[in-house]
Amino acid sequence: MIEDETRVLSSVVSSQLAVHAKYGGVVPELASREHLRSIVPVVREAMEMAGVGFQDLDAVAATHGPGLAGALLVGLTYAKAISFAAGKPLITVNHIEGHIHAVIMEAAQKGTPVELPALAIIVSGGHTHMFEARAAGYVLLGRTRDDAAGEAFDKVAKLIGFGYPGGPVIDMLAPYGNPREIRFTMAKMKGNRLDFSFSGLKSAVLRWVESHDMTAEIAVRKALLREAPQPSLKQWLEVTPKATLDLVASFQRTVVEELLRHAEAATEQVEGVRSIVVSGGVACNSGLRAAVTEKSMGLPVHFPSPGLSTDNAVMIAAAAFPKFRRGEFADLSASAEPNLTLA
Ligand code: KG4
Ligand code: ZN
Repeated sequence: MIEDETRVLSSVVSSQLAVHAKYGGVVPELASREHLRSIVPVVREAMEMAGVGFQDLDAVAATHGPGLAGALLVGLTYAKAISFAAGKPLITVNHIEGHIHAVIMEAAQKGTPVELPALAIIVSGGHTHMFEARAAGYVLLGRTRDDAAGEAFDKVAKLIGFGYPGGPVIDMLAPYGNPREIRFTMAKMKGNRLDFSFSGLKSAVLRWVESHDMTAEIAVRKALLREAPQPSLKQWLEVTPKATLDLVASFQRTVVEELLRHAEAATEQVEGVRSIVVSGGVACNSGLRAAVTEKSMGLPVHFPSPGLSTDNAVMIAAAAFPKFRRGEFADLSASAEPNLTLA
């Protein structure tokens, strides 16, 4: 729940990670079922924390895409119901624009507003996209042709027994390995050089794993996960040999360097670029934060705080605000659009 563009009245996030963890990734049917289970209590809690009733609202915002159809439908349908029952306008928001607005909102709160045009880099479990962000709209500069960056983290982590989601574990362990030990080569992209491909890297890691006998240590880590669903750093380090720490560090370095290389090339394409915005779950990655901040290409770099990096509703409300001011409302026929694009 937000007020006046930047004041967060409440933020409630219901995590489904525990539900999906046993399957090593998001199971669409379970995702919609969990959304359905959580939507009413989560909205109620957000309203109570903010101390407001439905009649106090100016508008209701919901994500209409991109994403899993079932999950989108739950949120959108509930938002429509509130909008209809309370007589408040409905605003539909693109999930990716939400990630960008999480950063715009926080930067404004800190008194260091994001200056446009910006290069916006969205890196999450579902997206690896770079946009030119201007007041008038967005231009897509490059995107992944296969796996998203977060998906690469998750798949590699799952492969070597670190569970799901793997990004945070790899991030935590990478500083203990040698990032230059293994040199993975990234394919040169044909066509748009700003596009990404992470599936080759995933296969390279798989080949490395197959040529080094890791079966026993992977079994030990899987056993640890069954005992302690969220092992501590110390617990992970006890069951992870140096060679695997090197693998993790080298993998993370390769992803970070790839993102950085693309970001650098992308800034050259945004005429008059004044800032860089990085958002999405992978924006939590400390290696990425350090590398982008250090490189920065002479521009101010804005990251969201960890709480607003991963999916949340505050970012959707923040992205709805400019639409609210423009009177850009949706009607009750608005539909979920799993493949919605931003540009
Ligand atoms: O934005 P998000 O919460 O959901 C999607 O829209 O996908 O992003 C989740 C993704 C997962 O793939 C997760 O492994 C990754 O973000 N992630 C990280 C880190 N924290 C979350 N990846 C690398 N390092 C992290 N610290
Ligand atoms: Zn997201």
